[in-house]
Amino acid sequence: MNFYKYVEIFDTTLRDGEQTPGVSLTPQEKLEIAKQLDRLGVDAIEAGFPIASQGERDAVKLIVKEGLNAEVYALARVNKNDIDAALSCDIKNIHLFIATSDIHLTYKLKMSREQAVEKAVEGVEYAKAHGLNIEFSAEDATRSDLEYLKKVYKFVVEAGANRIDIPDTVGVMTPSKISNIVKEVKCVVNVPVSVHCHNDFGLAVANTIAAIEAGAERAHVTVNGIGERAGNAALEEVVISLYSLYGIKTRINTQLIYSTSKLVSQLTGIMIPPNKAIVGDNAFGHESGIHTHGVLSMPLTYEPINPELVGRKRWIQAGKHAGAHGILAKLHEMGWQPTEEQLKAITNRVKELGDKGKTVTDTDLVAIARSIIGRGSEEKVIDLLDLAVMTGFKVVPTASVKLVLEGKEYIAAETGVGPVDAAVKAIQKVTDNLANIRLKEYRLEAITGGSDALAEVIVKVEDREGNIMSARAAGEDIVIASVEAMINGINEILRRRKRLQTDVSQ
Ligand code: KIV
Ligand code: ZN
Repeated sequence: MNFYKYVEIFDTTLRDGEQTPGVSLTPQEKLEIAKQLDRLGVDAIEAGFPIASQGERDAVKLIVKEGLNAEVYALARVNKNDIDAALSCDIKNIHLFIATSDIHLTYKLKMSREQAVEKAVEGVEYAKAHGLNIEFSAEDATRSDLEYLKKVYKFVVEAGANRIDIPDTVGVMTPSKISNIVKEVKCVVNVPVSVHCHNDFGLAVANTIAAIEAGAERAHVTVNGIGERAGNAALEEVVISLYSLYGIKTRINTQLIYSTSKLVSQLTGIMIPPNKAIVGDNAFGHESGIHTHGVLSMPLTYEPINPELVGRKRWIQAGKHAGAHGILAKLHEMGWQPTEEQLKAITNRVKELGDKGKTVTDTDLVAIARSIIGRGSEEKVIDLLDLAVMTGFKVVPTASVKLVLEGKEYIAAETGVGPVDAAVKAIQKVTDNLANIRLKEYRLEAITGGSDALAEVIVKVEDREGNIMSARAAGEDIVIASVEAMINGINEILRRRKRLQTDVSQ
């Protein structure tokens, strides 16, 4: 591997990522993601599979027209119709593929090995004759006969392919196996080699990195690792592992990784698991006393990378595992200065709640601190004056809210999938301009039984700077409790922002 060179990132979020069951993006949504990927610094964007639908062609066209820095590719099988569909989108770069494993040849394509190689060459020649820059994939390469696979790659390169890609279509590789295939293939082709790993055994990132170590020049990845079945190699994990563990560079602006991940999650509807590396909620969260103490004195004790490297912030959770150091840091963050005695009492109260199985939110911590330190109630930056919801059978759930924000009254109305969703959206409409605060997590628990049960709502809200606050509210009416929890969380974030501004100006 030439360690002084940049490894190229070929992002296929908009193609393989969109093949995640249940995901379907509009052309405008695809364009929004493509623009963000371009800002992120990917070298190539696979914008879609034009033969699939008119919407797909519209999306690819729209993205090509945008004139991004990244190369924009369209996917096509090695046949005239697919290539013509891609050409109709004005693309300059095409990702051509045909399967080469005996399983695919026998049961899917019903072709001999010779027929497949002939078809591949024909497709490449046709695309070349139309002036396209070609990356060629032998689908299911890793289950193909190696000598045959090398022959296919050699022939397509002779026919004009500019790059070849080795897809591990069903994710069956191990790092040593893919490394061997890359080395073997590189002996017969003189063009750059890409690797495209699926995550069926959870090895997509490890295999991608092994392939790069073996000499692959380009990695196919998706944001958040979305994609067919268990997904593809995750962009953020590949890029940050290469950078932090191998000292291998890409052109990615790593500080945009988190915002890109959130955008993709929001538009695809695919939630990010909290324990997901790099972009999961818990990736830079600490609760246990030993860990928070360590991180507060030297972040490297329990953090392999600085969260800011990927556009994130470290956060500390109060709970039964927490120690006084972590709780003190959290209280300082929220503007409280307890004495040693008070801190001890607050920590004990937090642990008691944790032992009862309770989540201790930031607003709970404030309530405990207030009861022990005895300071008056916190200033409310935002408050709910009125809430009305309309819902029913065949009625679009609608909510209107009246809020007072920094002394000024605002009214907003929104529709949603249910009354809670509508009410949350209406609040966000008002707070959007001020702080772009989003609901990140919502949990509803019934405290008592029956249809008049007391409901408890726990929310996590996040602003555009990545400040996250958790809050709670309880009541018999789920919509009111949800709105109050949201308002409590927003107040906590706004107070924190005000404190930070005051600190900076002092
Ligand atoms: O996984 C795969 O084999 C693919 C091909 C289209 C390259 O996505
Ligand atoms: Zn794939």
